[in-house]
Amino acid sequence: MFGIKIIATGSYAPKKVLSNADLEKMVDTSDEWITTRTGIKNRHIAAKNETASAMGIKAGKNILEKSGIKPEEIELLVVATATPDMNFPSTACLIQTGLGLKNAVAFDISAACSGFIYSLSIVEQYLKIGTYSTAMIICTEKFSEIINWEDRNTCILFGDGAAGVIVKREEEQNTSVFKNIIKSDGKYADLLAVPDRKYIDMKGNTVFKIAIRSMGDITTEILKSCGLKTEDIALFIPHQANLRIINALGDLLKIPKEKVYINVGEYGNTSAASIPIALNEADEKGLIKKGDKIMFVAFGGGFTWGASIIEW
Ligand code: UT7
Repeated sequence: MFGIKIIATGSYAPKKVLSNADLEKMVDTSDEWITTRTGIKNRHIAAKNETASAMGIKAGKNILEKSGIKPEEIELLVVATATPDMNFPSTACLIQTGLGLKNAVAFDISAACSGFIYSLSIVEQYLKIGTYSTAMIICTEKFSEIINWEDRNTCILFGDGAAGVIVKREEEQNTSVFKNIIKSDGKYADLLAVPDRKYIDMKGNTVFKIAIRSMGDITTEILKSCGLKTEDIALFIPHQANLRIINALGDLLKIPKEKVYINVGEYGNTSAASIPIALNEADEKGLIKKGDKIMFVAFGGGFTWGASIIEW
């Protein structure tokens, strides 16, 4: 088995920012309600003709530039999106050609907000056994397109954006951690869905409680399976859906606040893109050092959930 490492990150956020004050003019809500219930202040909104693939290509260019890897070196492209441009071709194929990844096999996966961790676990298998040596993950979401802008229960929560990573096989056997656990339970499909292929429908309060419980359990499980304690984690990057969920999770795991990365206030919930946007920001701010252990956890529609521990 080969070792593997994330070697580069990158992201893209659309220029347009929608604030709580803007939303006050659209639905019966207030900055005070949104801030205290969710921690969200702003979210980025894609232009009308700016598709998930267009945002994914911009994020992909950013990752390639930072990595020094040539497009033709990428052998596998996994794209996580709940808002593909069309039924087919896959958003991955559109991004592949947009980035000139001519030697890559490209496919989409559908795991809603857990898309990044699902993608990491797929890439892990291909790289560890040696099928490919260099993989790219792009998570790209245009939730503004599946939001009913008259539904105050959901329109305040989500934003658009794209981000991802390049993951590389290490030629020498290495002992650094790269562990993913993913889970699904379709019996909760109705609680968070786009039932009519049009708009998101969510039973927010029930999702809230199950999200905290599931993410608490899976992070405990992954720490145990890696033989680690919360003190060993240098940075915890949870899915950015709601500040109250993040704080509850931090308290449950007894992780000090300064080790929890939070940017939900500026992006809202960008679904699959939320963890890689946060990872890229944390890296750009110089918050991650070589050898640091980072833990991710996500939860989303399906239900799907997952956790990862990686070494930087
Ligand atoms: O990423 C995938 C996972 N998704 C999530 O993690 C989201 C999970 N859920 C949540 O984040 C929260 O449940 C919400 C932020 C969606 C809602 O917060 P809550 O504390 O669970 O509120 P609630 O749904 O129990 O609603 C409380 C009240 C209701 O009024 P009544 O019935 O008490 O009179 C709602 O109608 O707040 C009302 N309300 C609003 N008021 C002002 C709901 N949305 C709004 C709003 N502005 N935008």
